[in-house]
Amino acid sequence: MGAPVPVLLAGVHGHGRTHLRVLREMGESGLVRLVGLCDQRPVPDGDGLEGHGPLPCHADLGEAIERTGAQITILSTPIHTHLPLARTALEHGSHVLLEKPTTATLDEFEQLNAAVDASGLACQVGFQSLGSTAVEAVRSLVREGAVGRLRGIGGAGTWVRTSAYYDRAPWAGRRRIEGRDVVDGALTNPFAHALATALAVAGAQADAPDRVELEMFHAHPIEADDTSCVRVHTTEGLPITLAVTLCAPEHLPPRLVVHGELGRIELEYTLDRVTLHRPGRTPVTTTHTRTHLLANLVAHVRGEEPLLVPPPATRAFMHVLEAVRTAPDPVAVPGHMQRVHRTEEGVRRIIPGIDTLIHRSAEHLALFSELDPAWSPASRPGSADAKATP
Ligand SMILES: NC(=O)c1ccc[n+]([C@@H]2O[C@H](COP(=O)([O-])OP(=O)(O)OC[C@H]3O[C@@H](n4cnc5c(N)ncnc54)[C@H](O)[C@@H]3O)[C@@H](O)[C@H]2O)c1
Repeated sequence: MGAPVPVLLAGVHGHGRTHLRVLREMGESGLVRLVGLCDQRPVPDGDGLEGHGPLPCHADLGEAIERTGAQITILSTPIHTHLPLARTALEHGSHVLLEKPTTATLDEFEQLNAAVDASGLACQVGFQSLGSTAVEAVRSLVREGAVGRLRGIGGAGTWVRTSAYYDRAPWAGRRRIEGRDVVDGALTNPFAHALATALAVAGAQADAPDRVELEMFHAHPIEADDTSCVRVHTTEGLPITLAVTLCAPEHLPPRLVVHGELGRIELEYTLDRVTLHRPGRTPVTTTHTRTHLLANLVAHVRGEEPLLVPPPATRAFMHVLEAVRTAPDPVAVPGHMQRVHRTEEGVRRIIPGIDTLIHRSAEHLALFSELDPAWSPASRPGSADAKATP
């Protein structure tokens, strides 16, 4: 193994903490060396930075790269900063690990592709589940005919987020901020991994889908969606649905269900776990390994491995994000359909029965309105039709 690669982390206070912990582990194994930080909010004195101790923190990314000599920059900053900061990093000669979602608009995505191509440097997009061999395991089961001809892929995500999640940053839960697109909704941010993984399982992640149908709602007093479903039609004609909420009664691992004519495969993408179900047979569960996207980026920079998630591998995802971005505003879930609790972590909103509806969506590849007329956006007085076709 060569000398540790110097890495800079931009965005320290939020999800950046996870990167600090990973960088510590990878630093101990000699793969990388964290050489500095970039954040507009200073690091308070006494912050141990997850065991890294004091490190130089710069407000300006270009200056941070120049001063530290970083070869890789991790961008763990708000969605609307992804393109400008990625450009700055590339212009200063640094490879990039860019958090998901790739960019805030499809046009920005094309600009990012052009900037990466022009730089000759590498950009890895932080869809970490695409580093899991579980995705290939599902694809090879499908190729071997384990479940017969595919009917579609359904996804279900039932998580809990309180008002604290939306209060942590000015861009949280926003569709736009100060004239910039943000698109921070449940489908495009917390459950972006579910969508990207489903598209990868379908082998459809690099192509613009044929059609996108959307139904978006919010129970929290936010601009973006917290409870939504989408049906993506791939160019091969495969339907992929994803139904999600951040207002679930219980926080559970999300799952994708690959429906075949002879059985089904469940993929719990946060756990790298695959279960094959066939009628009359005992289900078979296997757990798979995962390559960290930073380790893969380092190996790629050293000419040892292909990059797992270059921006073009997120094209289909970006088309769905664009459909979300350009759709009418999500519809408010009326008060009688939610329960509100004050907890130590903030205000929690539960939509009773939403977990059942979400699992039915994954089972039947159906939109909410096709399962329950109460969720038909058009049936509400004064509500907008949230269906969108890009
Ligand atoms: N891969 C995952 O599982 C995962 C999980 C959570 C968040 N994320 C992604 O990570 C990114 C950050 O999300 P978050 O929830 O931590 O956001 P956050 O707003 O909580 O934290 C962002 C950090 O970036 C800093 N920052 C803002 N603008 C900056 C700029 N121009 N230059 C330098 N620093 C700047 C902020 O001060 C803050 O420290 C987003 O893209 C989000 O989607 C990914």
